[in-house]
Amino acid sequence: MNQQAARQHGANRRDSCGNNPTVLVVSAAALLLLLYSLGSYTSTHGLTHNGRMRTAITAGGGLGQQLQAELSRGAAGQLQQHILALSNISSLSTAQLPLLLQGTNLSSIATADVLDSAAAKGLGWQQHWQLVQLHQQLLCTSGLTAVHNPPNSVPVKLGNCSVFVYAAHDFVSQELAGPRHSYEEKEVAAVLWAMQQQQQAAGAAPRVKQQPLFVDAGANVGSFLFSVADAGYRVAAFEGMPSNIALLRHSLCANPHLRNRVGLFGTGLGAEADTCYVVSDHINVGDGHTVCGEEQVRKRTDNTGYTIRGKTSVRRLDSILSEDIQVLKLDVEGFELQVLQGADSLLTKHRVNYILTACTFGGAPRQRQMLQLLDQWGYYISLDGFKGPWLDPAAVANGSSKLPWNNIFCARKDLQHATPAR
Ligand SMILES: *[C@@H]1O[C@H](CO)[C@@H](O)[C@H](O)[C@H]1NC(C)=O
Ligand SMILES: *[C@@H]1O[C@H](CO)[C@@H](O)[C@H](O)[C@H]1NC(C)=O
Ligand SMILES: *[C@@H]1O[C@H](CO)[C@@H](O)[C@H](O)[C@H]1NC(C)=O
Ligand SMILES: *[C@@H]1O[C@H](CO)[C@@H](O)[C@H](O)[C@H]1NC(C)=O
Repeated sequence: MNQQAARQHGANRRDSCGNNPTVLVVSAAALLLLLYSLGSYTSTHGLTHNGRMRTAITAGGGLGQQLQAELSRGAAGQLQQHILALSNISSLSTAQLPLLLQGTNLSSIATADVLDSAAAKGLGWQQHWQLVQLHQQLLCTSGLTAVHNPPNSVPVKLGNCSVFVYAAHDFVSQELAGPRHSYEEKEVAAVLWAMQQQQQAAGAAPRVKQQPLFVDAGANVGSFLFSVADAGYRVAAFEGMPSNIALLRHSLCANPHLRNRVGLFGTGLGAEADTCYVVSDHINVGDGHTVCGEEQVRKRTDNTGYTIRGKTSVRRLDSILSEDIQVLKLDVEGFELQVLQGADSLLTKHRVNYILTACTFGGAPRQRQMLQLLDQWGYYISLDGFKGPWLDPAAVANGSSKLPWNNIFCARKDLQHATPAR
């Protein structure tokens, strides 16, 4: 089987998320080679996604055959011996690749590795987007994310999508699996309305270049992600909790029609790059809270009912993404202020038309800080929806507005409809 045929074979298998070591190896090769080819093409802007894929495969030369030969020598068991962190591949020569590919364990490659290696090569947002998409595709193709058996989960139907949620002990999952098949229905509807505002504006042009972008920070099991992607929009989803990431990856494999629209970033967001812990309690297991620092973790888990559920990388949003955003949604259990602080240069350099944020950022001083930041960045704030009515801008500016326990809706002041009610 030549490279092209192998690739095609991979593409054919993708929908069934089958299990095939050949596909795994060829897929891993494609991911690494893509990173290589992206790195070596500094002016790739003219290339289409398909163009890049073709470049990556062509650059492979006889690599596929070498790997096939390794496999036919019964090397499958040895494949995992040299687990290669993607963050290190920038230091490797092309000649070293085939050797190291033997050891690539795709499921152990984390989004942070992909992002860090891309950053080390000076790659930007478009490449970040392509790399996480490819990473996800490879996981589907390789069968590492077999659709039928995510542990402790049940599939639920959300619109046209089949989405995996926790089988028990999780509030959002319970709502999604319940009769209404929705969670925060009003907020999802508001986000869909806000996404459409961009499309209507762009609709005036003969051809809409790109679908507007929704950024889902704290994607959880995907209650917003799948609704927004299903409606045709692009979604950059961020989630740091390992069990939520696993469910999301399974769900994305089960919905190949969303493949080109969704970039799943398996990392938490914050004000500084860090490695932190995710903790949750026993009655709402998927409700992960990011906690940084050993001392903080001890406090949060010492007789509180909270348990450490894993580690998460934390990155600044503006170190990953640079593009206008139609709607930015934040629901990160107390980390909202940090995420916004880590989006500062994004909010300054690009248009972020609407922000929906949970208000769990902990205490009056932090609420005041949040209000003042949103005011400085030029937003009106509403407790009801993206169409207002708006809080008194003077009270927002001095941070004295009273915020609810759940969500606030923010709209840029220069949007036409956003006139303050008095
Ligand atoms: C990268 O390579 C260096 C030197 O070979 C090694 O010390 C380091 O642990 C590697 N990093 C990762 C993330 O594997
Ligand atoms: C690959 O990595 C995953 C995650 O680290 C690990 O659970 C799994 O056992 C590894 N697979 C092999 C064959 O080593
Ligand atoms: C489902 O798919 C159809 C056809 O692609 C699309 O029109 C519709 O908006 C999608 N979403 C829902 C929720 O039905
Ligand atoms: C903040 O501004 C509001 C509206 O102008 C005003 O009523 C309130 O007294 C101010 N609070 C402080 C602490 O300055």
